[in-house]
Amino acid sequence: MKVLMVCLGNICRSPLAEGILSAKVGKEFSVDSAGTSNWHVGKSPDKRSVAIAKKYGIDISHQKARQFQSKDFADFDVIFVMDQSNYADVLALAKNEAERKKVRLILDENQEVPDPYYGGEDGFEMVYQMLDQATNQFLESIQYEK
Ligand code: 4NP
Repeated sequence: MKVLMVCLGNICRSPLAEGILSAKVGKEFSVDSAGTSNWHVGKSPDKRSVAIAKKYGIDISHQKARQFQSKDFADFDVIFVMDQSNYADVLALAKNEAERKKVRLILDENQEVPDPYYGGEDGFEMVYQMLDQATNQFLESIQYEK
């Protein structure tokens, strides 16, 4: 199962989502992340994301930001986006219904994982908790035994 986590910058939310899911699954999973923008390509995750992951025993410091590309539709089974804006940006690159079907908001019922970039540390704690729950729900939905 190949899962791609997508946000805007690929430095705050999706690196955390990648780290959290990776920590819960085995080698039969391939987990990656990307940003819809090219703003931070090649950069490490935001230090606040690195710190909150570390608090929960997960190391995301080795990750490097990259931009989402059309080829990702072929390379991944599921593409999780954090908010409606990411959703629209990724869908705009889909070429057919099969590609569109791979794209899902990571939270239920059209809820968004808010962009924590311009906020304080508590925003990162909230994002961590949301992604921890969302990844648990995803694994339950595919009946994966952690
Ligand atoms: P992310 O957060 O999409 O969760 O990585 C952001 C990071 C950077 C910017 C916006 C959102 N920015 O405007 O540079």
